[in-house]
Amino acid sequence: MKPLFSNKTRSVIAERCRTDQPSILRRKYEPWYHEMDSQRGTRVMLGGRELIMLSSNDYLGLTTHPKVMEAAEKALRIWGSSTTGARLSNGSRRYHRELEEALAAFLGKEACHVTSAGYLSCLSAVAGFATRGDVVLVDKNIHSCIWDGIRLSYATMERFSHNSPTDLREVLRFTDAEAAKLLVIEGVYSMEGHIAPLPDFLEAAEGHGCFVVLDDAHGLGVLGHQGRGTADHFGVGDQIDIICGSLSKSLSSTGGFVAGSTDTIEYLRTHSKQTIFSAAISPVQAACAQAALDIMQDEPEHLERLWTNTRRYRTLLEDLNLDTWGSETPALPVVLGSRERAYMFWKALMEEGVFTVMSIAPGVPPGKDLIRTAISAAHTDEDFERIEAAFQNAVRKI
Ligand SMILES: Cc1ncc(COP(=O)(O)O)c(C=O)c1O
Repeated sequence: MKPLFSNKTRSVIAERCRTDQPSILRRKYEPWYHEMDSQRGTRVMLGGRELIMLSSNDYLGLTTHPKVMEAAEKALRIWGSSTTGARLSNGSRRYHRELEEALAAFLGKEACHVTSAGYLSCLSAVAGFATRGDVVLVDKNIHSCIWDGIRLSYATMERFSHNSPTDLREVLRFTDAEAAKLLVIEGVYSMEGHIAPLPDFLEAAEGHGCFVVLDDAHGLGVLGHQGRGTADHFGVGDQIDIICGSLSKSLSSTGGFVAGSTDTIEYLRTHSKQTIFSAAISPVQAACAQAALDIMQDEPEHLERLWTNTRRYRTLLEDLNLDTWGSETPALPVVLGSRERAYMFWKALMEEGVFTVMSIAPGVPPGKDLIRTAISAAHTDEDFERIEAAFQNAVRKI
């Protein structure tokens, strides 16, 4: 049989893999892909040691809530483990529709479409609507899923400075007035923890006829009444065409969603390749998200506790003179400014029993190498004591 790749191609790919910088870094420093043996609340077991998890997106701490666990068990018993098919073909179930209706109502939108990953949902919220000749205006620090969505759409991309409505105004001045335009913003930036000033962005875009897409993966469950997200926080939901996001953060599951008008969502159901050719979320995933959504509305104490912990944690970091990049949310980065310092700080925290994630350029802008940390409603007083001692020692070490 003729080989699929020539020897030349094989050696080119082998060389590419061998010299790839992130792979070399990963092998040398082992900062990523840590395999945890078990988890109990905010504690994880890693290599025989118990660490405090300080970088999860389980903002409300619902992943082990009894109602979430019970819903998952029940869904598994009733529906089995998987749909084994795409929604468009054999994979649609009643629980998908029920979750979509609940999410749409919660977000104040007419309709919602659930997909198998937040990444795919947000990607399809751009690639599903934009096309060649359109212009997509994006914040320079937008998540990778939006970049991929723009690439797949063949639309023209125009970037504006991070969180700068002034720069958006400037970019719009030079954008083809006749082109259809999508404006894509994150509600809460996942690395920086910054909240987008939505009213100012909407004002800057006024008169340009933009279709506004909000990726609120980190705003949902964190901002707004009962955690309805960034648009609700600012009271501008009616001016946002699409709210997309993830089930894998406050909603204690995996999967993603796109919410908007009935027409846009119906269009997406037959235009999003990420949906048409990919299996639907499993009953357990849907049940966990649905249960978390109910808890968010019935038990306000989780959101209250999240913000109490956020204030306490931010003060702890600021008292140590650590640079939190002006974060206003539970996603609190510690900017170290260089790869070496980020690595040393991350390692020191690991040795002190605190699990964080090292994020270095190009994942973050040059000079902003950081460790990403995120506080949760589930962190206890005892966790705080250990976190504080660990940070004090890590600061001393570097
Ligand atoms: C802003 C943003 N959008 C989308 C996603 C993708 O979500 P998921 O991890 O559920 O695929 C993430 C993930 O961290 C994110 O931060």
